[in-house]
Amino acid sequence: MRRLFLGVALSLLLFAGIGNAQRVNLLCSPDLAWCEALGPAFKAATGIDLEFIRLGSSEALARLRAEAANPVFDVWFGGTGDPHLAAFNEGLTEFYKPSSWDDLLPSLTKSVGETYIPLYTGALGFVINEGILAEHGVATPQCWADMTNPALKNLIAMPDPNASGTAYTAIATLVQIMGEDAAFEYLAALHQNVQQYTRSGAAPGQLAGRGDVAIAIQFMHDGVKFAEEGFPLTVVAPCEGTGFEIGGLSLVKGAPERDAAIKFIEWALTPEAQMIAATVGSYQVQSNSKTPVPAAAPDLDTIKLIDYDFAKYGDPAERDRLVSKWTNEIFPQPR
Ligand code: F6P
Repeated sequence: MRRLFLGVALSLLLFAGIGNAQRVNLLCSPDLAWCEALGPAFKAATGIDLEFIRLGSSEALARLRAEAANPVFDVWFGGTGDPHLAAFNEGLTEFYKPSSWDDLLPSLTKSVGETYIPLYTGALGFVINEGILAEHGVATPQCWADMTNPALKNLIAMPDPNASGTAYTAIATLVQIMGEDAAFEYLAALHQNVQQYTRSGAAPGQLAGRGDVAIAIQFMHDGVKFAEEGFPLTVVAPCEGTGFEIGGLSLVKGAPERDAAIKFIEWALTPEAQMIAATVGSYQVQSNSKTPVPAAAPDLDTIKLIDYDFAKYGDPAERDRLVSKWTNEIFPQPR
């Protein structure tokens, strides 16, 4: 009887312990190496476990939509800002104001307002394998306009906006630079030169690095990473101007581990946590003004950035409309 009582008591204690153990379930959208580095550092800093799944920005948004009635994730870390804004507007995430809010770069907090938390920023550009261009006798493109040169047929890779936030940023950027009609004419001409649309925003740079294509349209910081890894790549900022992302950090509405999620958000915005990114080759400019900007990060002060309208192009209806228009009108065109 005594043994039985002790057994039951022990099980109850164990159960209570398990119930109290905190674990953050993270939806992680930046480079895999950065996602992988978060868990051990967060555990060392707080004792809390972290698990993650890596999904591109648009796929992550789709996942949150599918799980809205029964959320599985606690925090969405990284990925382009537009889908974070869409998630907020759709009630999939809630705004949490971190204690470090006033330390975040004012240009970023002003642009997004109290919708999601800015995590980093970085500009879109061309990542170029000049050796492959030389084999085809084509000069290095400096402008969006150069990219529709028929001599570049099959030499460009870019991501697919149905899966990648980078690709949506590119489409929204072109619409803002050229106006919608001209941008879609441009995308149709560009389509003639695109050899591959990839699921992930960073993948085009790997194709360019291996010489499968000559040019990748993607965030410049991803190109810097691949160049550092030894791929023969250079990075160009388009002469007409370019769009940029304000990568997001969001608390999932109805997060199963809300307290642990908030502890993660607080930690993720510290300079110590943000400095992890550069140690694994992620060279975005981090949002906390106290986090040193890595020497390798593309210098945003020297790049012509457009006045990106985050409110308009993060609106879910506008985002879905532009992605559907590209999917129905551009992607099916023969090339
Ligand atoms: O690889 C890092 C990165 O470019 C981030 O800066 C960006 O937020 C994210 O990837 C976008 O990924 P995707 O285009 O696959 O959604």
